[in-house]
Amino acid sequence: MAKLTVNDLNVRGKRVFVRVDYNVPMAEQDGQMVINDETRIRATLPTLELLIKGGARIILAAHLGRPKGKPEPTMSLRPVAAKLADLVGRPVAFVDDCVGEKVEQTAGALKDGDILLLENTRFYAEEEANDPAFAEKLAKVADIYVNDAFGAAHRAHASTEGIARFVAKRGGQCAAGLLMERELKFLGDELENPARPFVVILGGAKVSDKIKVIDRLLEKANTILIGGAMAYTFKLADGLKVGQSLVEPDKTDVAKAAVAKAKEKGVQFLIPSDNVVARPVKTDKLNKKGKPIIELHDPKVNAEPNIPDDLEGVDIGPATAKTFCNVIAGAKTILWNGPMGIFEDKRFAEGTFAVAKAVAAATRDGGAKSIIGGGDSVKALNNAGLGDQVTFMSTGGGASLEFLEGAELPGVAALTDK
Ligand code: 3PG
Repeated sequence: MAKLTVNDLNVRGKRVFVRVDYNVPMAEQDGQMVINDETRIRATLPTLELLIKGGARIILAAHLGRPKGKPEPTMSLRPVAAKLADLVGRPVAFVDDCVGEKVEQTAGALKDGDILLLENTRFYAEEEANDPAFAEKLAKVADIYVNDAFGAAHRAHASTEGIARFVAKRGGQCAAGLLMERELKFLGDELENPARPFVVILGGAKVSDKIKVIDRLLEKANTILIGGAMAYTFKLADGLKVGQSLVEPDKTDVAKAAVAKAKEKGVQFLIPSDNVVARPVKTDKLNKKGKPIIELHDPKVNAEPNIPDDLEGVDIGPATAKTFCNVIAGAKTILWNGPMGIFEDKRFAEGTFAVAKAVAAATRDGGAKSIIGGGDSVKALNNAGLGDQVTFMSTGGGASLEFLEGAELPGVAALTDK
């Protein structure tokens, strides 16, 4: 990798400021915030263990949620300190601020191998504004800066980007953590020269969210399989009826251009030939945004490419799942980003789970390298109990998408070149 990594550092006795992505899902239980999924915390352990072994004095910083620049008790990182202490098997100190005297005192008293976690950086508006004075305050306790927060590396914030400049100005090194290095390897280098056939599976709600990724992958892939609600925009572009399905009518030109490019490049480009559909019914109940909750009734398979006017597509159908799984079975490299349907509802999860099983089987039996591009596909694989049966699962959501689009991530750009 072109940037310095933690493996290149001598950290003994140094205060190493590590930006991690501990933006973990939490829920309130009996008046306390409880962590629902600790994947992102576990994912930082290799870096932390390496730093502990090297004798670093570790200062961890992260954001949690979107508290809009002021303290918000439900978004405190305190519960993460306790969880991390369990996982790493040693005490983790916590300070209820991320800059200032208290932080400086506690950081100054750290011994080799000690760990301190700071409070949510987004409790200050200056974090997201990438305010230089704030970045300089963060940098005050850092001899070395390590960024292991791949999931936040697409944000040019004070703790992901600005701080590196101040550490570097003082002659300090700025390096990628081991998680960051792995993410960049699998989502970057491994897809540059993939073993073939290279099959890309894309799902999710919107064509507009994924079009840049599609465009880029059309240069590399042998086959692209399209599921999720964005498939309905491709159907519409193909002159098919989509009924009440979620669709972006103003994006049919973009969809058509992608299909034309696939033809020109000789990329097999498949959209669903059948779907699971349901009848949307408006209820009197309101959701959090104050909009009426829509229930989906009478699910059934619609074997036709056209979807009837009163029905909504909610998953790929069994014929499509079979076709997609056959393609996946022959792949040597697989990239999967986005579910095939509304998999959170068991009735509409079959397509996504069929794909999850096929990806795991191709990895296990076919020797394929399978790379899961974060977010909902990771959730789906974990729900199916197959999370440990793929080659790599990204911890990034938006960051993996931006990286797959070919964007330079500010949190990576800011690190020291080798
Ligand atoms: C994520 O959860 O994708 C990252 O932590 C980034 O969070 P953000 O979208 O609130 O910047």
